[in-house]
Amino acid sequence: MREDVQIAPSILSADFLNLGSELESVSNADFIHYDVMDGHYVPNISFGPGMLRAVKRGTELPVDVHLMVTNPDETCRDYLEAGADLVTFHMEAARHPRRIVDQIHEFGRRAGVAINPGTPVSALESMVDCVDMVLIMSVNPGFSGQRFIEHTFDQLHALQKLCSRTHAHPLVEIDGGVSAANAERVVSAGARILVGGSAVFDAQDHARAVEEIRTAGRRGLSRWA
Ligand code: DX5
Ligand code: ZN
Repeated sequence: MREDVQIAPSILSADFLNLGSELESVSNADFIHYDVMDGHYVPNISFGPGMLRAVKRGTELPVDVHLMVTNPDETCRDYLEAGADLVTFHMEAARHPRRIVDQIHEFGRRAGVAINPGTPVSALESMVDCVDMVLIMSVNPGFSGQRFIEHTFDQLHALQKLCSRTHAHPLVEIDGGVSAANAERVVSAGARILVGGSAVFDAQDHARAVEEIRTAGRRGLSRWA
């Protein structure tokens, strides 16, 4: 099957007062990215499992939950019960990461593991064979609208090496400062799911912004051209 680029708009950048129509405005995307921030792991507070239930009612797209919390071991279940289709937790915060992955899989959902820009990719050595997705943060987590960190390309290349050495094939998601301007480069470095917060929701036409990021990203799939 031909590989493709998938776009995951982050509703952290959406207009919370009009969330239903904001969700509809990106129905051409592949996922809804749902950023959970607890005010401890990151300095910001966003939303929890209650709003996830509402979001699930407002979209037919799978919801990609990104847990930026100190205690994913304890809280992951709440998001699975609320309907998360994919749950990603931070390697830096997890006490028993493989146990979290097992729990997600017991619910029949997909599991992702994330690392921050300052965490070496080698921290994922024991995880790439058991997760469905690896999320490489391209900003320090906590806020949308931050500038993409160039060191991310080293992270993506190191991840490709780790995956080929271990014969693992997780999907690679990139999150933070992604836009049509850098989508081609991140895809050619191995990313396949592109999160877009401000690049989507700050645009006049959200659906069009999704397509522009996707089109730019597809140019990075050159080996399929
Ligand atoms: C950052 C969040 C991101 C953020 C992306 O901590 O995990 O998902 O909302 O927003 P942009 O694309 O504006 O950097
Ligand atoms: Zn995120």
